[in-house]
Amino acid sequence: MKLNKNLVLIGMMGSGKSSIGKILSKKLEFEFIDTDSKIEEIEKKTISEIFKKNGEKYFRNIEEVISLKSLKLNNKVIALGGGGYINPTIRKYTLKKCISVWLDWKNETLINRIKNSKKRPLAMKMNNLELQKLIIKRSTMYNLSDYKINCDKLNKKQIVEKIINLYENS
Ligand code: S3P
Repeated sequence: MKLNKNLVLIGMMGSGKSSIGKILSKKLEFEFIDTDSKIEEIEKKTISEIFKKNGEKYFRNIEEVISLKSLKLNNKVIALGGGGYINPTIRKYTLKKCISVWLDWKNETLINRIKNSKKRPLAMKMNNLELQKLIIKRSTMYNLSDYKINCDKLNKKQIVEKIINLYENS
């Protein structure tokens, strides 16, 4: 099989990395890897349970191991967790070996999507202002990715088409 670079989706919680990633993987006929789901599978706990029982530091360590392991494969569509790309080792590897796409949305869209999510332990303890600050801080890192898609005015199909186009022409 031809060895193709991984297509890596990055962005905040609620940016649609998993749902867009699944569609992309079918179109490209690549396997889809959601690093959060992989972590839950291996740990046999939800992300929330891991944060609660083992703490964020423990989660970040497994996140690094699982993300790097996934990034070292080929022909995958990979959805990194919202904090994954903030880790310099994960970010550097992604930039060196993969094609990365940032799913960018207006802050208020993201805040509305994530503020009540029970699946997202980090967001649960933050108010809107704190979430906004986190989005702004992380955006400087997300901005280092190969491509950025402004998703607000696009539907899912258009987002997918844009990404396929970028990937195939890169
Ligand atoms: C996190 C995002 C989550 C998950 C964890 C921490 C973050 O993934 O990895 O709750 O730090 O932004 P999603 O971006 O898939 O929600």
